Amino acid sequence: MHLLAIREMEPARIEQLLESSQRMKRATIDGSKVPQFPGRVVGMLFLEDSTRTRVSFEQAARKLGMGFSIFGMQGTSLSKGESLKDTVLTLKYERLDGLVMRHNASGAAHLAARFFDGPVINAGDGMHEHPTQALADALTIAERKGKIQGLKVAIVGDVMHSRVARSNLWLLHKLGAEVHLVGPRNLLPRHTGKLPASVHHDLLPGIEDADVVMALRLQKERMDGGLISSLGEYASLYQINARALANAKPDCIVMHPGPINRGLEVDDQTADGPNSVIVNQVENGVFVRMAVFAEAFSNGHMEQPKTKKATKK
Ligand code: NCD
Repeated sequence: MHLLAIREMEPARIEQLLESSQRMKRATIDGSKVPQFPGRVVGMLFLEDSTRTRVSFEQAARKLGMGFSIFGMQGTSLSKGESLKDTVLTLKYERLDGLVMRHNASGAAHLAARFFDGPVINAGDGMHEHPTQALADALTIAERKGKIQGLKVAIVGDVMHSRVARSNLWLLHKLGAEVHLVGPRNLLPRHTGKLPASVHHDLLPGIEDADVVMALRLQKERMDGGLISSLGEYASLYQINARALANAKPDCIVMHPGPINRGLEVDDQTADGPNSVIVNQVENGVFVRMAVFAEAFSNGHMEQPKTKKATKK
């Protein structure tokens, strides 16, 4: 089964993936068995830079006993002008079992899914979606808050360019959270009226009584320039710091998908402080990607916990 966009997913599938991620985490921490998929080889096509997403997919594949080949823009025929379609067809006929793909074009993973036989997993496509990041974030929220339903979540900053924000918005909405998008007019999507979220241009009312504040990176590489007047002004209006958090709930958690521009979206004290779950998001990324691979290669039979058998050994 492909994993292309949270927007297209049934809530039941999202919940099943989150439960499977929790089982993967428990089993990994206890040292008990996780499902193994020997002989499965996944192509990992990372055509945009990535640290945490790429390494966590690699780690997930290793833990499930799978093989993988990693490709970047450099070192493949894409740099010679080969089309994405021809690259995907090449990988199909070389009999790779699945594809993980990051690309700077929105819709690239959907395109790949048309030409590839096995499951295609979207690891971030342009400004569209980043489903596995949203799953890692949801797992982190559920661990800290015990639920997602009914929470107030504020997503702050460059929402317009953020695939993380889009995937999170849909996931949180589908699981019953109340989503608030906060940012300057220039950095919010054009048609916010159609999104299941409230919109705020001022930080303090936007994060008032929030259970979760999720800061986003300013995606300078996707800006044509002129969208914000100065970084200093942006920080003074939208930075998540102790002063801003005084408006949120006292036990509000602070998230950021990384990479962080420290001192801009979040100050050091907050990023490294007791309310921050930023490193937990990274850690949970591995378990979520294990669950996603297990779903992709279990032919519809998701692995159930084998705690008794596993602990006997
Ligand atoms: C994000 C991405 O690439 O979309 N990073 C990530 O995968 N954790 C967010 C970003 O780059 O700002």
